[in-house]
Amino acid sequence: MNVLILGSGGREHAFADQISKSKLLNKLYIAPGNAGTGLCGTNVNLSLIDFDAIRNCVISLHINLVIVGPEDPLVNGIVDFFEQDELLKNIPIIGPSKKGAQLEGSKDFSKQFMMRHSIPTAQYQTFTQNQLKEGIAFLKTLHPPYVLKADGLAAGKGVIISSNINEATQELTEMLQNLKFGNASSSVVIEEFLDGIELSTFVLTNGTDYLILPEAKDYKRIGDGDTGLNTGGMGAVSPVPFADKAFMKKVEDQIVIPTIKGLKNEQIPYLGFLFIGLMNINGNPFVIEYNCRMGDPETEVVLPRIKNDLLEVLSKAANGNLNEIILDIDTQTAATIMLVSGGYPENYEKGFEISGLNNLYESTVYHAGTVLENNIVKTNGGRVLAITSLATNLTQAFNKSYQTAASIKFSGKYNRGDLGKDLIKYL
Ligand code: AMP
Ligand code: GLY
Repeated sequence: MNVLILGSGGREHAFADQISKSKLLNKLYIAPGNAGTGLCGTNVNLSLIDFDAIRNCVISLHINLVIVGPEDPLVNGIVDFFEQDELLKNIPIIGPSKKGAQLEGSKDFSKQFMMRHSIPTAQYQTFTQNQLKEGIAFLKTLHPPYVLKADGLAAGKGVIISSNINEATQELTEMLQNLKFGNASSSVVIEEFLDGIELSTFVLTNGTDYLILPEAKDYKRIGDGDTGLNTGGMGAVSPVPFADKAFMKKVEDQIVIPTIKGLKNEQIPYLGFLFIGLMNINGNPFVIEYNCRMGDPETEVVLPRIKNDLLEVLSKAANGNLNEIILDIDTQTAATIMLVSGGYPENYEKGFEISGLNNLYESTVYHAGTVLENNIVKTNGGRVLAITSLATNLTQAFNKSYQTAASIKFSGKYNRGDLGKDLIKYL
């Protein structure tokens, strides 16, 4: 098979790495890719908002399967674009329809969906631009902390949590009236604060059958001890020590099954990954959010634990035979740490040479923001590299990744130093 992966982050490198080892693979392409994906296949330079360029690429390269990494093309309807095109409509594309992607593309849509299907989540109300007064009145009926969410996609920045009613009121005004997050905040979901511990679960479904992939926990804040600004993710680990069998059974029964049944009953086509952000409150799961794709850096710890031929799994999902797959999961712990550019998630510089990438026996290095220029690998983004290690336990896995991290160098390199420490008490 000829496979095209859309995207350019650590997630896409992890997909490319796994798929490059498949016995079913003929040629692998990644668009636009990065310096790491270029080691697994051929990078194709195109923009993910240019659906016509993607179409030309799929046709001219005789692609048999497309995997969509990030959410934007899905929310913008790439799957529907394929379905409506005579030459593309029979080429399987792993990702949900535009309607299915609304589970991530609109917080209000996802909250309404959860309410319709009695899926446990925080209580909420949605307010539009001309309902600022009502929104402020609603805030005053809640207890702090206050949770405000821009309805639309806001590059992971659209959630504001504040303990102060005046600050929350001001933020709501900024979001609704001054469109702090552009059109994404022309509607705002205000919801109850869920006090618990977070983790994520990942499902691959064809809309009928499903596989629950290994769960993971990511670290969102830039600073040690979960301080400072939110990022795309500074590291991740799988399995999650506090997600025991009883808890995961509740996740399946109360969340995964009703979600897939709900999509089916509402005739929303969904072939692809569903990422469910969860809060564990005293052993009970609540949905914080849905994403219509895999997580990054969660993919960098989830995929290394899946021993199956990933391309076979995805082909079966696309052909309606997902029920034939039994997942073979590595019982080891996978831990990844992100090396980021100094200044991230605010302003940072790019173009620094990265050294120490050869001879890394203990870990797998997934490239995120990197580029190959004149045979030199250089930094090309905020999150630069994800370093994943497998070991018999969480402490050893993080230790290995930290050792590898220390041997890789670039100007301004930063990583969190405390990953995994919060979980030791659950071991
Ligand atoms: P989201 O973009 O929906 O993932 O939200 C970003 C982060 O905000 C989540 O990962 C949680 O840490 C936090 N968060 C979102 N909603 C809630 C909530 N209702 N209660 C507590 N924390 C939340
Ligand atoms: N790491 C969080 C995400 O991919 O959305």
